[in-house]
Amino acid sequence: MITDILEKNDFSAADLAELISAENNDDIEFIRNKAYEVMRLHVGEEVYYRGLIEFSNICTSDCYYCGIRKSNTVPKRYTLTKEEILTQAKWCAGEGYGSLVLQSGERNDERFIEYLEEIITSIKNETKSVKLPDGLGVTLCVGEQTANNYKRLFDAGAHRYLLRIETTNRELFEKIHPETQSFDERVNCLKLIKEAGFQLGTGVMIGIPGQTALDLANDLLFFRNMDVDMIGMGPFLANRNTPMYIKGNDSEDEKQKIYRLSLKMIAVARIFLKDVNIASTTALQAMYPFGREEGLRYGANILMPQLTPTEYRKDYQLYDGKPCIDEDADDCAECLEARVKFVGRQVAFDSWGDSKHFKSRVAKSQ
Ligand code: 5AD
Repeated sequence: MITDILEKNDFSAADLAELISAENNDDIEFIRNKAYEVMRLHVGEEVYYRGLIEFSNICTSDCYYCGIRKSNTVPKRYTLTKEEILTQAKWCAGEGYGSLVLQSGERNDERFIEYLEEIITSIKNETKSVKLPDGLGVTLCVGEQTANNYKRLFDAGAHRYLLRIETTNRELFEKIHPETQSFDERVNCLKLIKEAGFQLGTGVMIGIPGQTALDLANDLLFFRNMDVDMIGMGPFLANRNTPMYIKGNDSEDEKQKIYRLSLKMIAVARIFLKDVNIASTTALQAMYPFGREEGLRYGANILMPQLTPTEYRKDYQLYDGKPCIDEDADDCAECLEARVKFVGRQVAFDSWGDSKHFKSRVAKSQ
């Protein structure tokens, strides 16, 4: 029984898989309520914003699912100038968003790292205010790097790093990535990110063809074993310009299934991991207009408002159906706060909203 499992203090892979597989509406509602209660108890009801700037779609990787993979000739490749990024960062600070995420395709060359160091330093210096004495909180999402690069980016002032493991099923990982990418290396990078001092975030895609409920349960166990601070996960959405696109595989039934699975994964992650930050990702909204708000109702506490300048958004479509590609950040700001209030939550402005898990992890190690 789902209700019996929910009473437990710890969960086996089988327990987690059973929760994730719940189909009955009453059972799902039990899970959602439990997740909400755990969230309220461990991280509170506030929602924190991280303004998302997708600053470059140039990528040296060729992941089979991703719309900006290097072999895809569709997107026009771009990299924002430092000034363009700073304009968005200042807007973000002005709106009271305490943090931003700098996301891009993967590059490891020296020029890229130097450019990023400079940008991080400028953002930190130029967004200081009475309310944010240390400037905006900066999260990076720029892929696999060397230990030295992670260290340099941390020293420049970024303090959180998100690198998804995508799936912890090694065979599945190998199926969706070219041979140049290895599961072990990805895991190693997660360790290096933590060693560099970052708050560590990871996550998976949900509904990858061939992925089972037990795989997802193992993903959650992996998050716990890695002692991660933040989770960013969302539905797998095939992009038509990638090798993983299968024509005719996008029925409404299939979509509903993956959507519900994603919401359940958020809830079960909250129940299992308790005090981590969990993002309700844009990919959920790409499926259904209120998908991101639903994510909040299932225990997520982080939203990532889109701050990529509008003219570039069409070229940063990792998956099909990306929302808000014609709107600018101002439109998104108004619409988003109303949506958060609609589900009975408040946005916590002018604070970083760091992971509570990170704080207790650091306290324990001292
Ligand atoms: N569907 C869903 N998520 C995707 N990502 C990339 N391509 C897709 C897709 N087709 C996610 C990956 C990556 C993150 C930046 O975007 O999980 O880590």
